[in-house]
Amino acid sequence: MDCLKAISVKDASELNGSIVIQGSKNNVLPIMAATLLCNGITRIYNCPMIEDVRVMCELLNCLHVETKYENHVLTVDTGCSCYEPLPYELTSKLRASVLLLGPMLARWQKAEIGMPGGCAIGLRPIDIHLEGFMKMNVDVKLYRNVLTCSTYYLQGTEYTLRFPSVGATENLIMAAVGAKGRTILRGVAKEPEIVELCKYLMHMGVLMEGVGSDVLIIKGTKELSSCDYCNVYDRIVAGTYLLMAAALPSKIKLIGIENICYIKNIMNVAALLGVNMVHIDNYLSVESFGNVQGGIFKTGLYPEFPTDLQPVLMTVLAGAAKDSTLVETVFEKRFQIVTELIKLGADIDVKGRNAQIRGGCHLQGHTVKATDLRQGAALVVAGLMSSGYTTITDVSYIERGYEDIVRDLQGVGAEISYI
Ligand code: EPZ
Repeated sequence: MDCLKAISVKDASELNGSIVIQGSKNNVLPIMAATLLCNGITRIYNCPMIEDVRVMCELLNCLHVETKYENHVLTVDTGCSCYEPLPYELTSKLRASVLLLGPMLARWQKAEIGMPGGCAIGLRPIDIHLEGFMKMNVDVKLYRNVLTCSTYYLQGTEYTLRFPSVGATENLIMAAVGAKGRTILRGVAKEPEIVELCKYLMHMGVLMEGVGSDVLIIKGTKELSSCDYCNVYDRIVAGTYLLMAAALPSKIKLIGIENICYIKNIMNVAALLGVNMVHIDNYLSVESFGNVQGGIFKTGLYPEFPTDLQPVLMTVLAGAAKDSTLVETVFEKRFQIVTELIKLGADIDVKGRNAQIRGGCHLQGHTVKATDLRQGAALVVAGLMSSGYTTITDVSYIERGYEDIVRDLQGVGAEISYI
């Protein structure tokens, strides 16, 4: 990753054209981890070429898993995989490295892996993951950023998550696949990524009930067979561009959206911001006059409005005609976008998890800094809304989850380039 790379973007008077929406990052990462659950070859179609996928491949390679990426197809061969410890310098590069714990315990009854990294949007503990593993008879030790987990055998259990953590749900499901007997997980997350992981595991032969609900029953299954997986489009990338369209006069097509069930929550907010949407075949036709009035919004757990789009929504509201309120209910420290929007001329006051956004501000181009993946993408949208030129530095954060945001926005007529 080139940490010195920056993006220059000019204010846009309108957006016209189309964007092909990439495959989902948060969907493909747990699926990549799940391939470890059995020997065989898995082809993952519509796999985005992003930094997090590249690092996840490196981690799988540490476990002697062969990975090959070509034309958005990732081929994973676990036939020769064997146990190794995973180094902190790799696991600390992304949050999803923690998702290798469950499959490693299921397969080898042990795991020695560095603590995960990921966006600096709060403390991001993994206590729920570890508490669930301990209920499954796993001994857990943490010393100098290295987690050492081991068990004679994983024991099926009943466990209630104190918070519906997406990652903990994914990890515990995958561990339960290798456990003796039945595991009942209550209070699980219900994000689309959980449903997709469960569907993939059932295709591998896992017996499971309650998919899509907040209680999952998983039967430990020895006989599994690898199977191919077609990744869904990235609902957060699609939502980024959908909300962007609210901020400017737009007539754009978001291509690759085969069904809208996973973005209904985002579409509802976009409609409140004045965006008209029609779903036709595999694209979403999006039009707006670009005159956002403002309103009161909050993030929540699926199917509420996703926290990952909070920075983009904050950005759009920073250019609204009237005052707005935005409440972040999932992460305790996810307002990094505010300082950078204020540099552009926004008027935002933060108290705890509440942001009061003054209406009627005209944003002016400036140099701003990306500090995490979604905040960085929001700054690119802010640049389109700010008069003159805006430079966004540290864009390597954005490349963790967006294949090529410059290419995407050039597709709708934006004057934007890497510098
Ligand atoms: C996943 O992170 C996503 N990442 C995040 O997307 C997303 O924001 C988040 O889910 C919420 O939807 C991936 O899927 C790779 P959580 P995850 O565990 O699993 C607390 C992006 O931009 N918590 O649901 O880490 C935690 O601190 C990224 O693509 C505990 O307290 O999220 C947070 O406040 C950013 N203990 C809340 O739960 C735990 O053991 C939600 O976290 C686990 C989590």
